[in-house]
Amino acid sequence: MQPQASEKVGIAKEKLGVFISTYGCQMNVNDTERMFTLLEMSNYVPVTSPEQASLIIINSCSVREKPVHKVHSEVGRYRKLKAVNKSLKIGVTGCVAQQEKKKLMDDMDLIDFVVGTDAIDELPQIVARLRESDEKQIDAKFRHQEAYQVDTLVRNPGVSTFVNITKGCDNFCTFCVVPFTRGRERSRKYSELVDDVKRLVDRGVKEVYLLGQNVNSYQSECGVNFAHLLKGIALETDIERIRYTTSHPKDFNQELVDIMQEYREKICEYIHLPVQSGNSEVLERMNRGYTREEYIEKANMILETIPGAVLSTDIIVGFPGETEQQFEDTMSLLDEVPYESLYAFKYSARPFTKAARWEDHLSESEKSERLNRLFAKHKEIAFPMAKKYEQKTLAVLVEEVKEGRAFGRSTQNKSVHFATSEDLVGQTVKVCIEEAFPQTLRGSLVQ
Ligand code: 5AD
Ligand code: SF4
Repeated sequence: MQPQASEKVGIAKEKLGVFISTYGCQMNVNDTERMFTLLEMSNYVPVTSPEQASLIIINSCSVREKPVHKVHSEVGRYRKLKAVNKSLKIGVTGCVAQQEKKKLMDDMDLIDFVVGTDAIDELPQIVARLRESDEKQIDAKFRHQEAYQVDTLVRNPGVSTFVNITKGCDNFCTFCVVPFTRGRERSRKYSELVDDVKRLVDRGVKEVYLLGQNVNSYQSECGVNFAHLLKGIALETDIERIRYTTSHPKDFNQELVDIMQEYREKICEYIHLPVQSGNSEVLERMNRGYTREEYIEKANMILETIPGAVLSTDIIVGFPGETEQQFEDTMSLLDEVPYESLYAFKYSARPFTKAARWEDHLSESEKSERLNRLFAKHKEIAFPMAKKYEQKTLAVLVEEVKEGRAFGRSTQNKSVHFATSEDLVGQTVKVCIEEAFPQTLRGSLVQ
């Protein structure tokens, strides 16, 4: 008989190996950690390669590009493993699971289970049922009516830990699949969130990274909005740093900026503010809820209220019907808003979305050409912006020390490294920046 994959690498016999491959955003990274934690509580042990696993999970993303194809090709790579390891089970979670549901299993016999974005906490039971009955399992129901209770589950919290505050989105931007894959927007209870952060602090966490598709529309059951949530976490817990993503420009307001400035000791001055396009007509067709001018006004409000605030953005090029002139408006926005980082994507049609049904789609080559032009322009602007940090002293929270070098992030979300012989992990230290590179800053410790 063929040995079990897990026996080959010396995992205790009674434990089964689980391998998870993760695609997409921080939410998925956080969901993967949640799944590992839940599965560890029910007799699984994480392994680092699919060959060692009795359970393989593909935590999928469908926000851009050929997501279903990616799932199929990864599952296909496991065909040989499944042939030699009869106890191997393969499942799909995340946004593709939610979007495709049973169709995934119908199209690919290798897939044993499908778990939607609201059913992650059921994963251990689903896998147990699968092993008992050998019947394929699916749970892709939305639980819109249930309270959103997700105390952070993390096995070995690092210096910085993700904390979900909202789930889902009600904005229905015409290009975006998220409202269909993550469901209606729900917020966690304020008191549960504060207690969650307190517990993480007790476990040594120094920074919480608050997550939501649109954090600015956080609304607790007792009427606490996002600005007051930040204030509450800053005042009621001993967390050292608070970060968050993603913001929606239409919901970003002066109150939030004022609170960020007032509590800047704790709330990092880095704001990811996805603009998507620099042209108001395109923004209207995207259903974004703001014009170019309103966006620029909000960006200026942030930069004026919070000295040294750092902005980054997301841009989609080649949205259906985007003309050369409209694209030029996006290019010229880079002259008006000083984005230190830019995440730009070619428009990609997504199922269920309005824009996918429109007829004026651009060719792939046009989209690629625009994307290259945009990145080239940003490259010219971004490096001089990084240079401004040279000779400045930044507060860096050290996340790792390896072979005499420490790596961490400044409050501006800059990656910083410097030489050290001490184990500074978890400490916030002052670093004087000596040289700026396009992606990182090199400095030395200020004693
Ligand atoms: N095509 C291209 N980019 C997209 N994004 C979301 N949907 C699409 C799509 N259909 C981008 C947006 C969003 C980021 C997370 O992904 O810029 O802010
Ligand atoms: Fe998608 Fe728009 Fe919601 Fe962001 S705000 S998740 S882009 S629908």
